[in-house]
Amino acid sequence: MFIAIEGMDGSGKSTQIELLRQKLTDTHNSVLITREPGGTPIGEKIREILLAPENIKMSVRTEALLYAASRAQHIDEVIEPALAAGKIVITDRYVASSYVYQGIARELGLDPVRKINEFAIRGRMPDLTIFLFVSQEKAIQRKKAQKELDRLEAESMSFHNRVNQGFRDLAESYQYPKVIINTDQDAQSVHREIWLAVTERLNMNKKTQSAGAKISKEAEE
Ligand code: TYD
Repeated sequence: MFIAIEGMDGSGKSTQIELLRQKLTDTHNSVLITREPGGTPIGEKIREILLAPENIKMSVRTEALLYAASRAQHIDEVIEPALAAGKIVITDRYVASSYVYQGIARELGLDPVRKINEFAIRGRMPDLTIFLFVSQEKAIQRKKAQKELDRLEAESMSFHNRVNQGFRDLAESYQYPKVIINTDQDAQSVHREIWLAVTERLNMNKKTQSAGAKISKEAEE
């Protein structure tokens, strides 16, 4: 089971990932939490380049390719082996972030983002993408608690507005298994909604697996 958590700045993503991690480790033994950009030693180096405030000259194409490069390494080194070992993998951001930040907010277009990511992920889409939305007022309130800003966080208000609108538009039309959750409510209520979506999906996966096992057993007989 592969889950991606995507969200706007200030949507409480980190808190929710931690709550989900605790709940999953209580109920399943093998859970892997990882993140993008990063998740591998090479990916973490790429992350430093991407987020360093001094890299103001970075072109949009370079930015999109670096996110995709970090993702390719993440898939090969961490995600695929963990899924093959039967783990539940949760990634803090995945391809939807590239669609929104590079494709929409940076205005590169969805098509180029799709092409480079097809190459990077080789068809590995999450079993569930969780989109966390937040109102602007609540996001600002949460962000004020934070001190230093990285290169992306230091972007203009209009960039952040494009990101927020981009997430809403993308999530609405997303063709893959997804759930959209509003995080203006308290953390525990958000967590309950996430947990419901995750358990539904886990049960669905189990049913498909046992049906698959039944079919292959019948084929053997
Ligand atoms: P991070 O500190 O992880 O931000 P957050 O806590 O909001 O997840 O920094 C990741 C930044 O990279 C974030 O601003 C979103 C951006 N990003 C992209 O622009 N494209 C991508 O494909 C990904 C994965 C992240």
